[in-house]
Formats: sequence, C-alpha cells, structure tokens
Amino acid sequence: MSYNISIQKTETSNLDKLDFNNIPLGTTFTDHMFICDYDNGEWVNPRIIPMGMIPTHPAAMALHYGQAIFEGMKATVDSDGNPMLFRAEDNANRLNFSADRMGMPNIPTELFVDGLKQLVDLDRQWIPPIDGSALYLRPFMYADEPFIGMRAATHYKFIIMASPAGPFFSKRIKLWAEKKFIRAAQGGTGEAKAAGNYAAAIRPTELAKAKGYDQVLWLDAVEHKYIQEVGTMNIFFKIDDKFITPELDGCVLDGITRKSVIALLKDRGFEVTERKITIDEIKEASKNGILKEAFGTGTAVGIAYIQEIGLDGESIHVSHDSPVGIEINQRLNDIKTGKVEDKFDWMTKVAKQLVD
Ligand SMILES: Cc1ncc(COP(=O)(O)O)c(C=O)c1O
Repeated sequence: MSYNISIQKTETSNLDKLDFNNIPLGTTFTDHMFICDYDNGEWVNPRIIPMGMIPTHPAAMALHYGQAIFEGMKATVDSDGNPMLFRAEDNANRLNFSADRMGMPNIPTELFVDGLKQLVDLDRQWIPPIDGSALYLRPFMYADEPFIGMRAATHYKFIIMASPAGPFFSKRIKLWAEKKFIRAAQGGTGEAKAAGNYAAAIRPTELAKAKGYDQVLWLDAVEHKYIQEVGTMNIFFKIDDKFITPELDGCVLDGITRKSVIALLKDRGFEVTERKITIDEIKEASKNGILKEAFGTGTAVGIAYIQEIGLDGESIHVSHDSPVGIEINQRLNDIKTGKVEDKFDWMTKVAKQLVD
C-alpha cells in the first residue's frame, strides 16, 4: 500500500539562516514536518506542512499519563548530494515495539518510511554535506486525546521533525556508576524508547554532572552490579582482544548503532559476546591491565570513548592504546555517506520525487 501524503510547502523558508559550519545543537529545525492522526482505529490524513506549533488540548493524555514514544535516526548525503536513510525499517520496528509496550497503536512501516522519505526529499537542502554531520530525524508518537482517566488513548499523533546536526567531536567521557537510582527493571519500560524513561533519568544525570561526570552508567535494579547502558547509548568493552556488551535482557534499549557495531566488529574478525557484565569484572580487568577500550554507541554520537568510570568513590581507568572503535566509527560514517560498499544493505536512497 502506498500512502498519499499531501504537501503544503512553507512560504518563508529559514534555509538562508542556516550556517552548516555552525549549527546550534538541537534548536534548528527544517522548514517542514510530517504529521499523521490516529482516529477511529486507523492512521489518517498523512501530510507534510510547514514546521510550527501544534494546538494541544490541556487534557491531552500524553501530558498526564505519559503515552509518548520516539525514535532518533539520521539522513546523510553521498558525494553526489543524494540523501540516504540509515536502517530506517529498524527504527520503524523499534517504534512499534515501544508502542506495543505502552499500549499505543502500531504505525505501518511503509507509512513511517514514506513519511521520512518525503520529508527528507522536500528538506534535502538542509542535510549538511560535511563529513560526520547529518540531518537528525525525530519520529515520535503521543496520545493527544483530551480525556481525564487512566486507559489507553483512542487518538494519537505521529510526527516527524528534522534537525540538522554538525559533526560530533566527542571527547572521552567520564561515567558515574549509579547505585541509588535505577533506569530500568525487568518487566518495566527500559527496553522501550518511552519518554518517561528519559524523564526519570534527568535528575540522576544532573547529580552525576554536579560530581564532574558526563553521563550515568546504569546498573541493574536489584543488585546494582550488572551493567545496563549509558545515558542515551549502549556500551561496549574490550577485554584482552575480545569485545563484550550487555545482553538485551529486557532492561536495555536495542540500539541500532549497537547492532551495527556488533556486525562491523565481527566483520573485522573480532569476537563479540552479548552477556551479563558486572561492574566488578570491569574494575578487575582495569586493575589487571586488560581493559583495552570502552565506548558508548548511539545515533547522536556514533561512538563515544570512555575515559574512566566513577564507582563508590574509586575510579576505574580505561586505557585507549589502539582503539578499534575509531576505525569502526569511520566505517560506519563511510557507509552512511556512500564512500564504502553498503554490504549489509543498511541504506535507503531517497529519490527525488517532488517537483519544485
Ligand atoms: C537509552 C538509550 N540507549 C541506547 C541508545 C542508542 O540507540 P541507537 O543506537 O538506536 O541510537 C539510545 C538512543 O537512541 C538511548 O536513548
């Protein structure tokens, strides 16, 4: 089924205000957005309209009961300026996984991908051509039915916004291993990309920052010893010559960068194991000089190197001698910009459809 998406173009483009070499983080939006309504059990009225405010009733259920989920992904351009999406169907699947957990309707993958393609096509001039830069895409769904009472909403909005993002020159980050607050417990919502997970992480992250750390390293909810993930990233360690990453145990987000990095590391001949990892194991490995590298993975940064982990007043040092992650990050960027073969078939080309 192909969706008929109506398009209303902006009369006042902001493109001339955009400086690709100096893009303020998270506050610049393209000229248009994609919107679709869920009404009477189906998605209706898919449309692209000028970016702007959305009238919202104060009783909109997302504001009170938190049915709100989102995705984060990127569009890039190849050397001829053709836009491409990275693993778009995986993001659609993950949004629907989150929707199931939160009692929200699924969005057809084709509508999700068509909406992305048409928005990216229309706003293609907003995609930064600079290496490491991208057009960040934020698909999200929330309950906009005005109703006071605890039940699944019957009316939702699905929206896609786009925001150009400059290259991320990530410094090595310091993590605070959190033992008081938790992010996710078995049976909870940790494996969904639900807005409430992020709300609950804000205060612990502020406290970690006040102690001089960049991000929280989340531990399991019961024993506070098994590593889960970091802020908005999954985590990898290299012990001796082998990579390990926490298994998807129901508390960890199934990161698209995580699964791409696993595939690229294996392709490069490394052994990668998904399993339970305790913070004490990492402390021991560091003490014994075999903790060779540690990094976070996520759409926003790609790979962010970890310098140290604060644990109970001690500091776990991570060495950084010949990091493989740098090379993997480069390969990921090269796939996203068409510089190397897309042998895993991750990229979706955005054809020029619209007539100017
Ligand atoms: C909690 C959390 N974990 C991990 C990730 C990394 O996921 P991805 O690689 O799909 O961006 C993200 C970012 O989306 C996140 O918010």
